[in-house]
Amino acid sequence: MADSPNCDLKSLSPLQLFERVTEQGEKVRALKAGKAPKDEIDAAVKMLLSLKLSYKTTTGQDYQAGLPPKDLVLINNGTTKEENEDFVDPWTVQTSNAKGVDYDKLIVRFGSSKIDTDLINRIERATGKKPHHFLRRGIFFSHRDMDQILDAYENKKSFYLYTGRGPSSQAMHIGHFNTFMFTKWLQEVFDVPLVIQLTDDEKYLWKDLTTEKAYEYAKENAKDIIACGFDVNKTFIFSDLDYLGASTGFYKNIVKVQKHVTFNQVKGIFGFTDSDCIGKISFPAIQAAPSFSSSFPQIFNGKENIQCLIPCGIDQDPYFRMTRDVAPRIGLPKPALLHSVFFPALQGAQTKMSSSDPNSSIFLTDTPKQIKTKINKHAFSGGRDTIEEHRKYGGNCDVDVSFMYLTFFLEDDDRLEQLKQAYTSGELLTGELKKVLIETLQPLVAAHQERRKQVTDEMVQQFMTPRKLAFEF
Ligand code: TYM
Repeated sequence: MADSPNCDLKSLSPLQLFERVTEQGEKVRALKAGKAPKDEIDAAVKMLLSLKLSYKTTTGQDYQAGLPPKDLVLINNGTTKEENEDFVDPWTVQTSNAKGVDYDKLIVRFGSSKIDTDLINRIERATGKKPHHFLRRGIFFSHRDMDQILDAYENKKSFYLYTGRGPSSQAMHIGHFNTFMFTKWLQEVFDVPLVIQLTDDEKYLWKDLTTEKAYEYAKENAKDIIACGFDVNKTFIFSDLDYLGASTGFYKNIVKVQKHVTFNQVKGIFGFTDSDCIGKISFPAIQAAPSFSSSFPQIFNGKENIQCLIPCGIDQDPYFRMTRDVAPRIGLPKPALLHSVFFPALQGAQTKMSSSDPNSSIFLTDTPKQIKTKINKHAFSGGRDTIEEHRKYGGNCDVDVSFMYLTFFLEDDDRLEQLKQAYTSGELLTGELKKVLIETLQPLVAAHQERRKQVTDEMVQQFMTPRKLAFEF
């Protein structure tokens, strides 16, 4: 760590303090092993005790070797020993609750803030636009520092958007699509630059893929992203495998982050073990770096203080908790975040829709027939066992996957409310609700496929060329 032993301990973050205690402990052990003079050992022990005390005062926890502060451990798996229901990390989402993850609890555990009515109203006042239904319906439910972004915007200071995709396969699913559609809305209402990272390096490291295949998927996924309707004059899409070699700004920020995060910290945050390859261990710095405007000198004219806003699923938060911890230590602004809930798997909200399980997902490449079959066969129903019981007691929208999907895709608030009433009262049967979902999704996916057909290799090249965008900095 860059800090001198005499710097004010109160100014250190919990992670820095944890690191300082660990280092000091190692120093004491080395001095003792080397039979150093007693006064030198005593001074080192005194420093160790004082660091442990500061750690306890700051975190409310006793220092335990190898266990970073609890809130940072929690972002690894979102669980505690006492409450072990919900597991949330960038790779796995699991809960035993049929209604899905308890997002209010997650906000408390992750230490983020709820997107409440005041914030939504403020977004409406600032932009003059009706808030997106993802905000109105709590689908984007949590944030970090969105108030700062609005302060900046109201004072005519710019910011930029950053989001991404890990190209693990050729096809994206409708859960990914949602994040990008919301990002597009943000870009349109705030009129700001957008950078989109395609982490082909991540997928090479984690999956059984060659670098060539991961890069090919990155370009295929770029087509789907472009088909969402992003403006080429305002959007830069990049593959890590390409851009890392092309931009010194990007690589400089990566090494700065790498210098300020230890192996202990990434073990605590991401659950890495000693047998994970070193590529995985250093990868979080690569996802962190685009949060800093100096990674894109061609867009921001070399300015390093333009704040970043990251819309993403809450599963990506561990990367950005780490980024926000590092940012002040390398003299750069912390990124702000908007988090979305998980789009549930067809089989139920206990887990998220994931490309690695084709039956859990509806892909942007699915045919109308596949959509119909998957929904009819797999979509978990909150309906009753028999028609008679359903008519008598009604269905349960809280666990019904078709209803949950409609809250994402049916923009008409009144129609959604009518469906809810009808299903809950028993008037509408599961098959009928599924039919509404099928008829909502089929044209939406078909329209996406039509737009994607229009995306040429030249267009992908244009989006992926490092260049100045239509903004002055
Ligand atoms: P990836 O490809 O897993 O997901 C891309 C984006 O989609 C979100 N997402 C979901 N949202 C709701 N429900 C789901 N079932 C669901 N599955 C995925 C993710 O949260 C993400 O926002 N490492 C990243 C790529 C990345 C990135 C970023 C993402 C790099 N930089 C910055 C967000 C922001 C990844 O593999 O995402």
